[in-house]
Amino acid sequence: MTRVLDTLALEPTDRRPVWVMRQAGRYLPEYRELRSRHTFQESILDPKIAAEITLQPIRRFGFDGAIMFADIMTPLEAMGIDVVFDPGPKLRPMSLAEIADLPDLDLDRVAHVAETLRLVRGDVPDDVTVIGFAGAPTTLLAYLLEGSGSKEYLPLRTAMHAGTPELDAALVKLSNAMHAYLTMQVDAGAQVVQLFDSWAGILPRHLLETLTFPAASAALTGLDAPTIYFAPGAGHALGSMRSIGATGYGVDWRIPIDEAWVKLGTDVAIQGNLDPAILLTDPDRIQAAVTDLLRRTAGRQGHVVNLGHGIDRHTPLENVAAFVDAIKEAH
Ligand code: CP3
Repeated sequence: MTRVLDTLALEPTDRRPVWVMRQAGRYLPEYRELRSRHTFQESILDPKIAAEITLQPIRRFGFDGAIMFADIMTPLEAMGIDVVFDPGPKLRPMSLAEIADLPDLDLDRVAHVAETLRLVRGDVPDDVTVIGFAGAPTTLLAYLLEGSGSKEYLPLRTAMHAGTPELDAALVKLSNAMHAYLTMQVDAGAQVVQLFDSWAGILPRHLLETLTFPAASAALTGLDAPTIYFAPGAGHALGSMRSIGATGYGVDWRIPIDEAWVKLGTDVAIQGNLDPAILLTDPDRIQAAVTDLLRRTAGRQGHVVNLGHGIDRHTPLENVAAFVDAIKEAH
């Protein structure tokens, strides 16, 4: 067992585990150096490069979790969709009927992801947990309908309110595809998988409860590994989120973590939730924020320390080190 696995199982550990979302990325000079020689997509497609990028933040900071380097859009390419990155994903917007008619995920076309996970699992220290991931059906649907990220996600919101049979079919298609993709990741060595529902928080609670959470649940149910569901901005629906049946839930920084945990239910694990902006301040403020975070979850098992969303690209390296050290030195 590892600290992350024990914590998700609500078992005691010597200290809380810590990793950060987007830890394999642009704030690291060794990542920027590699990327100056390989494009983003080349780096994902070549398991040796993807594994190397996955391991860079582990070597530098000693995180307890290693999240594989890929993107939430990577498996859509194995459903016949052309995606370019500039720097976010861009694709041809599709209708609900077209999405429902997409071919099933071709696992051979994501074999490089499985190979990355095998390489990472073979290389990480035994106490580091290998984390796989996928985009949640609602968030993937947002990109497919709009063709890119956006501020308002009006095509997604309109489709969810309309609630047509084509919407249900599109969500089923994406849930099934992500279930197959995550199953492959677990078979290849992922010890935990996280489902990113990055844009679900824009929806009203009733649509989360009737459409988004059931679709996320279908993607996660029956996997042979613990699961984490993360929907930033969805604090208004924490009271019903556990209907998904995940092992743990990520929360963003908008809500104090102790309050979020009570809303979720303290018999499930929680992950979070330092504001990434705190890592842009200074080591003293980071120490104070960590002390507050740990105080709020003291006396209970089940807290995986993380940020409330991805680390910012301008984060100073010494601040990341101060954050990890503050967790490791606390008891
Ligand atoms: O931030 C989140 O909400 C997490 C979920 C998510 C990922 N990709 C996971 C990810 C989302 C919403 C995306 C879409 C995406 N892909 C964006 C967001 C903005 C937009 O325009 O829609 C961007 C910029 C990309 C492209 C991308 N993905 C780049 C350039 C990188 C490299 C690293 C970096 O931070 O610059 C990624 C890596 C990535 N995306 C990882 C994950 C889980 C890698 C593993 C890790 O977390 O370190």
